[in-house]
Amino acid sequence: MTNRLAPALAIAALISTSFGSSPALRAESAAPLSARANYILRCTGCHGLEGAGSEIGGIPDFRGYVGAFSRTGDGRAYLMHVPGVVNSSLTNAEIAAVMNYVMQTFGGPSLPADFKPFTVGEVDALRAHPVEDVVAYRRDVVKAVTAAGIATAGYPWP
Ligand code: HEC
Repeated sequence: MTNRLAPALAIAALISTSFGSSPALRAESAAPLSARANYILRCTGCHGLEGAGSEIGGIPDFRGYVGAFSRTGDGRAYLMHVPGVVNSSLTNAEIAAVMNYVMQTFGGPSLPADFKPFTVGEVDALRAHPVEDVVAYRRDVVKAVTAAGIATAGYPWP
């Protein structure tokens, strides 16, 4: 190899590496979407890219609050029965990943240091657990976490 060729080979190697991991090529191989991609596609319409929600729309603010629900069993069950999860066509594996993304991206101090990420098995079990009235269910969960000194987002539903 001559010295003049070396840079060209290095560039060729770089190009092939970046093509190998390009999103377009990965999409062609039908790989599942990342949790962030699913959040953007399925959740931002209501919750916003920054998780701010909408007071007028009755969409709770995730920022610094949403992790509170991961702290109790009932809270975790509640998370699996919010409208965006119930009405989504995501698989339980995708739901676990997108909910972990929400918790870890927006939870801030509300997320416990020993946060236990959702697994597919837990999502299966919690979704099978009936929650008739999600608004009433949230109210009970909020009562319990508030008693433990953890704040949750303002919530307009009666
Ligand atoms: C059509 C609008 C809509 C979409 C889309 C939506 N959500 Fe929601 N979400 C809501 C509403 C309304 C609430 C509050 C009502 C409730 O508790 O049932 C909520 C509550 C939540 C909460 C609990 C926050 C709290 O403080 O109670 C989480 C977590 C959540 N959604 C996650 C998601 C995820 C993840 C997605 C995407 C897969 C998603 N949502 C898509 C409307 C939406």
